[in-house]
Amino acid sequence: MQKFEIVAREDFSDVTYLLEVRHPLMAKAAQPGQFVIVMSHPEGERIPLTIADYDRERGTITLVIQAVGKTTREMQRDCVLGSSLYGVTGPMGIPSHVGKAKKVVCVGGGLGVAPVFPQARAYKEGGAYVIGIVGFRSKELMFWQDKFGAVCDQLIVCTDDGSAGIKGMVTAGIKKALREHDDIDEFVVIGPPVMMKGCAEATRAHKVKTMVSLNPLMVDGTGMCGGCRVKIGSEVKFACVDGPDFDGHLVDFDDLMTRLRRFTEQEKAAAQRWSENCRMASVPQSLKTAPPVEEAELPDPFDEVPGG
Ligand SMILES: Cc1cc2nc3c(=O)[nH]c(=O)nc-3n(C[C@H](O)[C@H](O)[C@H](O)COP(=O)(O)OP(=O)(O)OC[C@H]3O[C@@H](n4cnc5c(N)ncnc54)[C@H](O)[C@@H]3O)c2cc1C
Ligand code: FES
Repeated sequence: MQKFEIVAREDFSDVTYLLEVRHPLMAKAAQPGQFVIVMSHPEGERIPLTIADYDRERGTITLVIQAVGKTTREMQRDCVLGSSLYGVTGPMGIPSHVGKAKKVVCVGGGLGVAPVFPQARAYKEGGAYVIGIVGFRSKELMFWQDKFGAVCDQLIVCTDDGSAGIKGMVTAGIKKALREHDDIDEFVVIGPPVMMKGCAEATRAHKVKTMVSLNPLMVDGTGMCGGCRVKIGSEVKFACVDGPDFDGHLVDFDDLMTRLRRFTEQEKAAAQRWSENCRMASVPQSLKTAPPVEEAELPDPFDEVPGG
């Protein structure tokens, strides 16, 4: 069975890490906006992850992951340099439509900086003037500033605490871009749902096209289970096959956020069980009857609104 070797790993913070994975065919086929479904080991959960970069010559794809629950924490622990992912399916989803826009603003909130990067690069290669807006809670959490900046004509940095760039959320960056440029053709926004919602509201009055990348729960990723359904205007769409990119002015973000919360209790329980098993595996047999230590609260991805 083919294995997909991790040829590079970088840790951006306690919870955010990058894996560069050898997969020549995927690297050849990947387009901006697409994602893969990963299984880290044979019994592992299948999780969707955006292809944040691809290098056709090296034959690798890059994933940037936030450890928010059982599987992403398990991968954070186990996916070390030289180890392999068990399964990588894709590329999935419709590639982002990189049209003939002359001036584009690419907005990444926190982790969203990684998935928006290939789109910014594609626009730049197509000759567009690219304005990048990145938002983080603070300077220490920033990553890819140079890599992202290299494909932008102008880069606007926003931090919640003002430790770098503008003090404020990415919507402050959007207002600045709209003030300085009256000829913006399109916004591309990727980040937590509440941040994308805020950005779509900020551009609505200006009637500038605003594309967002949605992250509903996915199971099969092939349009069969309906788990990833999202409301787009008066239509119901499946993000895995009809997206993940959609017109942000039509997305029902409240419905998306409600559906994302459906399994919170089960997700917490799974993470807690996994965490307890890890602890038990590392203590001597004689102590394994001891009661489990109180589990620290897991980060709630909805509280994480970096730059949002
Ligand atoms: C198209 C797409 C692209 C994504 N790209 C990235 C990425 O590049 N980097 C990244 O860190 N995360 C990405 N995600 C989210 C990632 O899939 C989830 O964080 C991951 O599945 C969580 O699994 P867990 O067991 O660690 O946490 P869990 O405890 O299972 O879940 C934590 C939170 O993650 C979300 N989630 C859980 N299961 C899924 C699922 N099967 N599909 C989607 N979301 C889920 C839920 O909102 C939940 O509240 C993407 C999701 C989608 C749909
Ligand atoms: S994940 Fe099953 S239909 Fe999209």
